[in-house]
Amino acid sequence: MRIRTFDEYQTAYQKSVDDPEEFWAEIAQNFQWRKPWTKTLQWNFTEPSVKWFIGGKLNITENCLDRHLAERGDQPAIIWEPNDPNEAGVTLTYRMLFDQVCRFANVLKRNGVVKGDRVCIYLPMVPELAIAVLACARIGAVHSVVFGGFSAQSIADRINDAQCKVVVTADGAYRGNKEIPLKSTVDDALIGCPSVQKVIVMTRTRTPVSMLKGRDVWWEQEVKQVTADCPAEEMDAEDMLFILYTSGSTGKPKGVVHTCGGYMVYAAYTFQNVFQYEPGQIHFCTADIGWITGHSYIVYGPLACGATSIIFEGVPTYPDYGRFWDIVDKYKVNILYTAPTAIRSLMGFGLEKVDNHDLSSLDVLGSVGEPINEEAWHWYDDHIGKNRCPIVDTWWQTETGGILISPIAGITKTKPTYATLPLPGVQPILVDENGKEIEGNGVSGNLCMKFPWPGILRTTYGDHERCRQTYFATYPGLYFTGDGCLRDEDGYYRITGRVDDVLNVSGHRIGTAEVENAINMHTGVVESAVVGYPHDIKGQGIYAYVITEGDAGGHDAELTKRDILATVSRVIGPIAKPDKIQFVSGLPKTRSGKIMRRILRKIAEGDTSNLGDTTTLLDPAVVDEIKAGAL
Ligand code: WT7
Repeated sequence: MRIRTFDEYQTAYQKSVDDPEEFWAEIAQNFQWRKPWTKTLQWNFTEPSVKWFIGGKLNITENCLDRHLAERGDQPAIIWEPNDPNEAGVTLTYRMLFDQVCRFANVLKRNGVVKGDRVCIYLPMVPELAIAVLACARIGAVHSVVFGGFSAQSIADRINDAQCKVVVTADGAYRGNKEIPLKSTVDDALIGCPSVQKVIVMTRTRTPVSMLKGRDVWWEQEVKQVTADCPAEEMDAEDMLFILYTSGSTGKPKGVVHTCGGYMVYAAYTFQNVFQYEPGQIHFCTADIGWITGHSYIVYGPLACGATSIIFEGVPTYPDYGRFWDIVDKYKVNILYTAPTAIRSLMGFGLEKVDNHDLSSLDVLGSVGEPINEEAWHWYDDHIGKNRCPIVDTWWQTETGGILISPIAGITKTKPTYATLPLPGVQPILVDENGKEIEGNGVSGNLCMKFPWPGILRTTYGDHERCRQTYFATYPGLYFTGDGCLRDEDGYYRITGRVDDVLNVSGHRIGTAEVENAINMHTGVVESAVVGYPHDIKGQGIYAYVITEGDAGGHDAELTKRDILATVSRVIGPIAKPDKIQFVSGLPKTRSGKIMRRILRKIAEGDTSNLGDTTTLLDPAVVDEIKAGAL
């Protein structure tokens, strides 16, 4: 399963194209199956239907926990670094993690959770988050982790979509110098969630919380009532493992579904190869487990490979902007995996807090979530990796389950801003607007995949048609990523960003339609249009054009803007707050009523010199007004 040279990569790649079933069957053999599969792959991208390791039975937690006990039971599985560096951290060995997962799995059972039930997890970045995730997997319950920055409304939407039976949360969370009241947010959400029968509350901040009799129970008390004996549920390879909600260009976020067998094989294979993980190494992925990066490269991938994975509760700038380097130094981190937005923000503070730490333990640096600009790439390379650590710029998506295009650390020759080459099993294709393949090198187009890999999404929860429409209908026979991409003369891939109405703000994926809907809920708002614009640190900022009833341009404008921000926070969460709000009297629309976002994007970018063809506009004068008032 391990690639060690570029020749081996090429051989593996060729084999994965010539005989994908044989290729993945060999890799899957490295895992523990209760029963072997009878057919490796069955697929079509029309329905779509993708099944890997058909008939195979397993439990992912036996692969992440049980099978490591004999050899590395006393090795740390999880190292937890709290928000406050003066608070004692926690190290859980594989044996301790196994014990806690089994106990909490029994708590879930005690609270009525059975195989197939959905459990919503809304927790801070504490070990209990990984424990709750794995406990669900242990008993075959489907977890739906919701990032701690989402609002009550967003939680409610997700709970209702999946009809979750139980919610696991905490009293509160620490994030930098803030204390965030998680349980009270859950309480607000649950007013509209009749499917929820139990709420399990872990203590973190000791914030006073209301505990509803018959519904709410304490984590700490519950675990005392159970034993640590919990045999793993036997799962079919294609049984659902988890749902993770993500934004698209239209409507509410959809629940991306991943299944047990293929996801496990793909997360572990890519973890081991991309980062060239060696036994005993310490892996620090700075993402939140509320996103796919945390699912695949904090929890499942590393644990399936028997690695030591760090969970960091805090933020990169607290108590100061040297925090990441503190952690690297303190735990002698070997693999650091973070986002360009974090690198850009830390770059701005200079080198003082970098140079007073020993970063010599680092072997591999990873980047994920958004295009990494050349300046950030070099800063990362020069000052963090000291020009001796390969940088892997990993391109992938919630829907792909794991990394698809990336260098293999130390093996693939890197090139700043390029995700370089597809991993074995990944067959990218660039197409033009009409779905025609763009062949050869030195070209760009829309990035699609023409063959399934084991980690590909299987459906969107409760709405298979939406899955078909979103990913498989734009270009029949292909999986469409939504990204634009360039393939250079060397055949290297560079992701240029979304070609749909999806924004990437600090590595967080936000749909423009979602933000518009939230703004439109604000009293007095008639209509709005949201676009992205280049932002030095966040990658993209959110620019909102808003039409209000009457005149919002007067002295109340600033207050109205603040109210709109509060509404967006309330509806989606603080991560979706627009950076700029411009009040306008109209929006540039075609005669058929379609907003011409191209024009709005240009104005938001500050590029008003050439707005292209505006003759199809219903009212071209509105463009001049918007240009004049641009922020
Ligand atoms: C979108 C997926 C899966 C990682 C976390 C984000 C963008 C992701 C890169 C990269 C350029 C990237 C794409 C993609 N993206 N990684 N290395 N270079 N762009 O997952 O929230 O599902 O977002 O993030 O636009 O489509 P996500």
